[in-house]
Amino acid sequence: MTASPTAPVPHEGPLLSVRNVDIGYRTGRRTLLTAVHDVSFDLHPGQSMALVGESGCGKTTLGLGLLRLLPRTGLVSAGEIRFRRKDGTTVDIRSMAKEDLRRFRWSEAAMVFQGAMNAFNPVLRIEDHFVDTFRAHETGRPRRRREILEESAALLEMVRLDPARVLGSFPHELSGGMRQRSLIALALALEPQLLILDEPTTALDLLTQRAIVERLCELREALRFSMVFITHDLGLAAELADRVGTMYAGRLIETGTTRDIFHRSRHPYTSALIGSVPPISGDLIVPESLPGSPPGPSSPLPGCSFAPRCGHAVDLCRERRPEPEVLHARGDGLSHTVACLRSRELAAEGATRD
Ligand SMILES: Nc1ncnc2c1ncn2[C@@H]1O[C@H](COP(=O)(O)OP(=O)(O)O)[C@@H](O)[C@H]1O
Ligand SMILES: [Mg+2]
Repeated sequence: MTASPTAPVPHEGPLLSVRNVDIGYRTGRRTLLTAVHDVSFDLHPGQSMALVGESGCGKTTLGLGLLRLLPRTGLVSAGEIRFRRKDGTTVDIRSMAKEDLRRFRWSEAAMVFQGAMNAFNPVLRIEDHFVDTFRAHETGRPRRRREILEESAALLEMVRLDPARVLGSFPHELSGGMRQRSLIALALALEPQLLILDEPTTALDLLTQRAIVERLCELREALRFSMVFITHDLGLAAELADRVGTMYAGRLIETGTTRDIFHRSRHPYTSALIGSVPPISGDLIVPESLPGSPPGPSSPLPGCSFAPRCGHAVDLCRERRPEPEVLHARGDGLSHTVACLRSRELAAEGATRD
């Protein structure tokens, strides 16, 4: 890969199309706890979507499920995850054969986790991770190590790391921020069209966080990959994403452009979260107006799962589950959708942020 911008792939339609996806964890021979319910969204080429919500709402499960990286007990139990491949064909990731899936990961879609330390093999130098990644996806004649290292150096420079220092180091010899950048460089090595980042900067200090986020914005501009950015930091979401999806108790309860979500949010939960953002980018603090905690997967509720904490809930909310409703349709995956039975009424009353 070179550091020069890749020409945008001519496209029609979404890169990733997620429809009615359920994801569960097996906790016994017959029990499947559903942690993600009925999630649908489209992600178009070059778009960046932030997934936000309190801890335990299913963000990581969804990210892992999209690339079939769930632990052995995890299972995508319903729905479709359609992905448009580099060759223009579309595949449902759920039905991909193992070998195909192995090639697909890294080269077409890659995931960066929060704990970069766990993503690296502690006994291998950073350069060996690059060599292994490139070699594992080679189809023709094996390339020379030197050639791979030159390319790896260019990738590390892209994330503003000094290759001379980093390539020969073991993961534990680098700071958290350097490891996280190295992992981002590695994830971009095979030019995937989709990068899923799960709280990639959460463990880092603010300055390092800022530097990584700025770099990610620039790289996305230059390389035009699509991104799903999982975070509980709304400040980061606002900065990095063109659209935001709010998750609550395993459901995507509101999606829209970043502007829609921050200025015209229509779900009382999103509105409460946004009202709780501290003035400077920081961690998502659950507002005092939102006592209690989200229901876990073991206690599904008949109606809206937010109803017990919602100041606007009426009896109907506790009885009927709200389906996502399109408020403002757009063909490019940027529709504003909300799952709240009272969203129109509340907007009319000025109770949400519309
Ligand atoms: N390996 C697992 N086995 C069983 N339950 C899990 C597992 N991982 C996550 N969960 C449950 O799934 C729900 C969603 O978790 P997670 O996806 O980690 O949320 P988030 O990333 O938003 O914090 C939680 O209730 C969590 O306890
Ligand atoms: Mg998580």
